[in-house]
Amino acid sequence: MRDITIFSPATVSNVVCGFDCLGFSIAEPFDKLTIRKTDEQGIRIINNDDFGLPADPQMNVAGVAVLEMLRVAGIDQGLEITSTKSIKPGSGIGSSAASSCGAVVGVNELLGLGFSKRELVEFAMRGEMLASGARHADNAAPCIYGGFVLVRSAEPLDVVELSCPPLWVTVIHPQIEIKTAEARAILPVDVPLRSAVRQWSNLGAFVAALSSGDLDLLSRSMEDVIVEPVRKGLIPHFDEVMKAGRTAGAIGGGISGSGPSMFLLAENENTAVAIGQAIRNEYAVTGIDFNTYVSEIKRGGVSIS
Ligand code: HSE
Repeated sequence: MRDITIFSPATVSNVVCGFDCLGFSIAEPFDKLTIRKTDEQGIRIINNDDFGLPADPQMNVAGVAVLEMLRVAGIDQGLEITSTKSIKPGSGIGSSAASSCGAVVGVNELLGLGFSKRELVEFAMRGEMLASGARHADNAAPCIYGGFVLVRSAEPLDVVELSCPPLWVTVIHPQIEIKTAEARAILPVDVPLRSAVRQWSNLGAFVAALSSGDLDLLSRSMEDVIVEPVRKGLIPHFDEVMKAGRTAGAIGGGISGSGPSMFLLAENENTAVAIGQAIRNEYAVTGIDFNTYVSEIKRGGVSIS
């Protein structure tokens, strides 16, 4: 095999009460990567889109992830990675994770390296570190595993795959950019104990509700008393979108990753579509361009064509 094509999904991380530890993958949008063996040494990155991402592998999230993987494997096979992104960088739906995860899954398959999903997430986290300055896996893990995951620990990496009922998600992506590193810089370093208790109570209840399918409990648990109050100031019309979504039948919602995307969960497709209509109407008054996506939670992660 000389080349391989990979589809890498967008992901929603944090999921309200699970800052840096909860995430799920969605069916749309997704990135496409084609990886080809070359006779020249080194990694060549071709960005087949208008996002202006770096082509230098040391400065590119897919590049650093693959370089680390080849170093650990002790292989110096030359590779050309052509990236066609639909997930806009700085959107809050796991753009950097889609690039780095797609690249490591593709190279693993193309070269028959046999790394496990957990090891692939570790390599992809090199890209997350480059993009955000932090070792977080709440986009990379769901991107590779698919479905809903909990990252119990980023170092050493400990990923828990969560069972969940069928759920639909509506995402709205206002066309403004929020850099994850900047959205992290504004977060509090210390958290009052009563806020921490509230947050971990919600997170425990959220995971229990996913497992039991108790959507009322899921709804009550979708509360973030630590991160959302600080970050929502970066996202125009956040409260109005959440209110319109809940009125249209959402179980709950919040900021997707570090924003500006927002997401709302629904128990079926019809409700998710109605939420999409309601929040489009609501957001139109801002004058800010936006995209919306409606998708079921994606059971598998990165896929190989
Ligand atoms: N958990 C990360 C953050 C996700 O919120 O900073 C970044 O997309």
